[in-house]
Amino acid sequence: MTPKHIPVLTKEVIIALNLKANGIYIDSTLGEGGHTRQILESTDMPISVIGFEVDSSAIKSAAKVLQDYDTQVTIVNASYIDIPKEIIKLGLNKVDGVVFDLGLSSLQLGSSDRGFSFRSESPLDMRFNQAQEIDAWQIVNLSTEQELADMLKQLGEEPYARRISRSIVKSRPINTTRQLAKVIVQSSGRRIGKVHPATRSFQAIRMKVNDELNNIRKGLGQAISILPEGGRLVVISYHSIEDRIVKKYISEASTNCICDHKIIECVCSHKAYLKSINKKVIKPKPNEIELNPRSRSARLRVAEKLSDQNS
Ligand SMILES: C[S@@+](CC[C@H](N)C(=O)[O-])C[C@H]1O[C@@H](n2cnc3c(N)ncnc32)[C@H](O)[C@@H]1O
Repeated sequence: MTPKHIPVLTKEVIIALNLKANGIYIDSTLGEGGHTRQILESTDMPISVIGFEVDSSAIKSAAKVLQDYDTQVTIVNASYIDIPKEIIKLGLNKVDGVVFDLGLSSLQLGSSDRGFSFRSESPLDMRFNQAQEIDAWQIVNLSTEQELADMLKQLGEEPYARRISRSIVKSRPINTTRQLAKVIVQSSGRRIGKVHPATRSFQAIRMKVNDELNNIRKGLGQAISILPEGGRLVVISYHSIEDRIVKKYISEASTNCICDHKIIECVCSHKAYLKSINKKVIKPKPNEIELNPRSRSARLRVAEKLSDQNS
């Protein structure tokens, strides 16, 4: 089966993982299985991949995309924040590398009934995990104006957050993606150009529905906790808010002292437990961006576990 989602920075991800014979790797955001398939195709060494995913439609697609590799792949329908406890169920407590490919997939964005896109009419949903109770309808219709404004500003970096929130509250109930997009376009006063005026607000609402920033922070910690010395953490993010979290996490974990710089003598006793592998963030090359415009905003960071004791 040809996946709808083209995996991003695949060569770079494979190099970053530093694959080894009999290695076990985790794809924390399996999606349609694009990265997992490329990782498995890249080597003749016996390796295996455990894929985590919360979206049951994505899991169905991934199972088809990965059917030729069924002896090397285990799909786990669970959040990456539960990696340690889920791998214990598989009889493991360490793996050799963990990949995160954050954000949403083309499959999700292109689904006309999931509510991720303002380009198709759909109920306001936006849940990655369809079993989750909270959805975009609740966030849009039940949040206060202040909560909406803070959310659009912090998660969408939307400069017109206040104006848009006021209009959303006045126009409620808002039931569909097109209704919401119309309110945002009218209140922002921006024309529909290359970047749709609702892009930032939709991103913010999606991130809130799925508690994405908290999950990333928790997920990174969980992933690092199951890496042995030399194990690799590989993270692709798609916007500055996500990338800042990843950068800060790796930078702090790679530093021996995290005391305030005004303090002369260290009081934190923090010991570095990661080593940053790429000092400069890795970005897609122009030919990848040409073939897959969605890759344009991708940023890859790689770190290696230093010691098993310090995390
Ligand atoms: C950018 S896509 C991954 C695409 C994948 N690398 C591929 O090549 O097909 C991100 C995926 O992460 C999933 N996801 C989001 N939050 C998750 C979580 N907490 N645990 C597991 N998967 C999650 C989403 O449902 C989505 O399918």
